[in-house]
Amino acid sequence: MKIKARLDFLRKELAEHNHSYYVLDTSTISDFEFDKLLKELVKLEDENPEFFDSTSPTQRVGGRVTDGFKTVAHKYRMLSLGNTYSEEDLYDFDRRLHKLTDYEIEYVCELKYDGVSISLTYENGDLTQALTRGDGTQGDDVTANVRTIKSIPLKLKGDYPSNFEIRGEIFIPVKGLEKMNKLRNEEGLEPYKNPRNTASGSLKLLDANEVSNRPLDCYLYYLLGDNLPTDNHYENLQKAKEWGFKIPNEISKYNSIDDVLKFTERWDKKRHDLPYEIDGIVIKVNDINLQEEMGFTAKSPRWAISYKFKALQVSTKLIEITYQVGRTGAITPVANLEPVQLAGTTVKRASLHNADYIAKLDIREGDKVYVEKGGEIIPKVVGVKLNDRDLFSQITEYIANCPSCNTELVRKEGDAKHYCPNSESCPTQIKGKFEHFISRKAMDIDGLGGETIELLINEGLIKEISDLYHLKKEDLLPLERMAEKSVDNLLIGLEQSKLISFERVLFGLGVRFVGETVAKVLAKHFKTIDNIINTDIETLIAVDEIGEKIAESVLNYFSNKENLKRLNNLKESGLQFVSTIEDTTKSSNLNGMKIVVSGVFNQNSRVEYKKMIEEHGGKNVSSISKNTTFILAGKNIGPSKKQKAEDLKIPLINEFEFLSKID
Ligand code: IVH
Repeated sequence: MKIKARLDFLRKELAEHNHSYYVLDTSTISDFEFDKLLKELVKLEDENPEFFDSTSPTQRVGGRVTDGFKTVAHKYRMLSLGNTYSEEDLYDFDRRLHKLTDYEIEYVCELKYDGVSISLTYENGDLTQALTRGDGTQGDDVTANVRTIKSIPLKLKGDYPSNFEIRGEIFIPVKGLEKMNKLRNEEGLEPYKNPRNTASGSLKLLDANEVSNRPLDCYLYYLLGDNLPTDNHYENLQKAKEWGFKIPNEISKYNSIDDVLKFTERWDKKRHDLPYEIDGIVIKVNDINLQEEMGFTAKSPRWAISYKFKALQVSTKLIEITYQVGRTGAITPVANLEPVQLAGTTVKRASLHNADYIAKLDIREGDKVYVEKGGEIIPKVVGVKLNDRDLFSQITEYIANCPSCNTELVRKEGDAKHYCPNSESCPTQIKGKFEHFISRKAMDIDGLGGETIELLINEGLIKEISDLYHLKKEDLLPLERMAEKSVDNLLIGLEQSKLISFERVLFGLGVRFVGETVAKVLAKHFKTIDNIINTDIETLIAVDEIGEKIAESVLNYFSNKENLKRLNNLKESGLQFVSTIEDTTKSSNLNGMKIVVSGVFNQNSRVEYKKMIEEHGGKNVSSISKNTTFILAGKNIGPSKKQKAEDLKIPLINEFEFLSKID
């Protein structure tokens, strides 16, 4: 019983610290101490599986991958809100409600979070279900994903009703999106532009592990059930706060619509100081009996309404359209604007996305354009003041050649962007590639910065990254701004960079779509550069986190003769091309085997089986071919897969047979 008591203690303690950190925004323990307790809990749980508890802090990510989401009917319909856009609309709302009742009306004003709505069910204090809105009548069961959101309690405290639902909004804070975009940028991917779509996309990821890496947060704003603690909305939310939910502090009660209006005006100005996006204010009748009396229309409650802020927009002159070339060759058109104030910052440039966007809006140089800062972080041109257009204005002709090297641009089917294919000698791309290679997260070369790179390129001393390691003191000393000390520093920095780990070298190469994370995954999986060079598409795609797009880009890079020459050169210079990431091999029982995992399993999750296959020397492949060794088949394996296996005479093995193979 001592063990059970310790387990209970650790679970409660860790849940409390999580609550302080993720809900109350205060820290009550050091990371080190927290990890220590968590490790102890994981160990105790592993050793004592009979005390399993799905609400334990260790159970946020179950490592489950699903094929899709179950559709489940909502117990209470999930309605949306009517919208208002003006003072007048709000007065109308107030008049309408006063016609429905003789009582005084108390309003609650809340912020309108710009995310995705979620409905959480708690039974006896445990989170049992999380549904998306869907069509309002039925939604998707995204419980596994929602469990990864640390501000959502898995277990409640205090005197909560035995059964209730609570609804709220899942969102990505501004800083969180910025962080995600920084990573995407490093991987050569387009930034996520809209926090709401990104939150919604994250909730629909099939791998809860991946969801747990997304900076999702959740505010709760609506309690439903038969035994709610009080008969007014405001108090109920305060109670819910005591049970452990993250309830917004920016919530106020007012007795008149004039005060409500003041609240909306205040937040319209202050909203850009918030760490998350809001797109308006929600106004609700506080008294629940009154709410019930007022009831619902077909689509929305009569007792609540949303007041939407106008998107921040200004108009200014588009002076010139210029084009940026990224290090991977992607072209981005940019509007250079007459400087204008918008949401507290001076905007001089705005995104024009791509050729289709410019054509669709018929954006031309010299136009007066509308610039908006909406849910997106980067301002964008959203329209043209056609009445103000100059008579002689010219339709924008998208550039056909690279602004840096004049090579004809290409645009692949399915790509929104044009590319400069001259990756070998386009100066801007090359400079970008150098800057990426020497950057802190890649080779981190001391004594070398953007300016020196430019100088060395201009002097003809470096044409590609491998040239860096052939620089000699006597070549550098005669250069402007290159005193003996800086030359020594540079050469020492280069020498030291030869010790940088393989995954960082791989990241530094600048393969399209291979950012820090993917580089790590590849290094860990393939161990050596030669294994990566010699791999095939099937093997690549079978690696966790590697999709078709990344796989194609990797194959493309490593089949290019110039790149292979470059790699050889770097190898000879002594850079690291073998991974030192810990070897997790447990046996060679599955060596050389190509295994397809399919269906639903009882003993372990699919991700766990895939991991086991790798740990025992096997390879995960995604589709059945004549080279497949066997299929690890769970329940509900698709009929076409079964047929294919039969046709090709590939054996099906169940999870128990599999486990005995690796035992
Ligand atoms: S209350 C029946 N409160 O806005 C009332 N909704 O346009 C249910 N939203 O579907 C909603 N912040 O996703 C409510 N403080 C808030 C909200 C809020 C954002 C979202 C919610 C809803 C949509 C309606």
